[in-house]
Amino acid sequence: MKPILYICREMPEEMVAPLREFYEVDMWPSTSEAVPREVLLEKVATATALWVVISDRIDQEVLDAAPELKIIVNMAVGYNHILVEEARARGIIVTNTPDVLTETTADLAFALLMATARDMMGAEKAMRAGKWTSWEPLGFTGVDVYGSTLGIIGMGRIGEAVMRRAKAFNMNVLYHNRRRKPGVEDMHGCRYATLETLLSNSDFVLVLVPFSEETKGIIGAEEIGMMKETAILVNVSRGGIVDETALFKALQSHTIRAAGLDVFEIEPLPMDSPLLTLPNITVLPHIGSATIKTRLAMISLNQKALLAFAKGEEPNHQVMK
Ligand code: DGY
Repeated sequence: MKPILYICREMPEEMVAPLREFYEVDMWPSTSEAVPREVLLEKVATATALWVVISDRIDQEVLDAAPELKIIVNMAVGYNHILVEEARARGIIVTNTPDVLTETTADLAFALLMATARDMMGAEKAMRAGKWTSWEPLGFTGVDVYGSTLGIIGMGRIGEAVMRRAKAFNMNVLYHNRRRKPGVEDMHGCRYATLETLLSNSDFVLVLVPFSEETKGIIGAEEIGMMKETAILVNVSRGGIVDETALFKALQSHTIRAAGLDVFEIEPLPMDSPLLTLPNITVLPHIGSATIKTRLAMISLNQKALLAFAKGEEPNHQVMK
């Protein structure tokens, strides 16, 4: 009997087909709707392998319900939705998809920064609503990106990729990271700063740290209060790192100028979220890695990890090995 693989989202058949030789494949038949919790709990009861996306919460309850589980492949670089320590303690391998999404996510981070700086969404919406009635001397004005100061919180692979883009825009780059990166400083001329210095000196603050108990809420009311009144906050990492209530208040009272968010505490963002009432916010539905090439590359890494596991080889990109 082949081991059972449960796939929590419908994946392209050409990617799933090679797995059928090694696994009894069962798949949630929707690309757009998450597998319901009760279905997931039922399916993991017999699964040896599980293929998840970021909306599948793999917590104690799921692990307890999965006595046969040996591998979880995760179609994301971030894995805060998986109780990795506990999985590891149970001998379950967890894999993710780093590297292949670095440049794509950096593109999106920079695009969101620019869109927020120039309020492109607001201008587009106004134009479609027939509000472009004449050329106004100070109409539809934003702030400059070129030559301004960017503060990057979290100088990992994506942070470095954003910094290369920022340098092409002649930006002065500050960064804050758990550990200093002298090599990156020498190569790109960016400067390490304390969180306080970064917040108070940046025109754009970009959040790129992964979500963890240590980073949860690190940008709260006090930190936002340190930012310039003209500054823009951009988060493309995970919701929950920025305190949304504090951010809402700061945007509403114009303590900072604007925010660009690709990620939220609750996803999908509920339509009654107060954030959606603000004019000075640009929102996107968590699309950092969303290009066809990159999403297919992520799927391919997961597929290869599953194939390797089935053949008794080392799966790629094991988290906390
Ligand atoms: C990730 O990979 O963690 C992104 O947030 C989803 O692509």
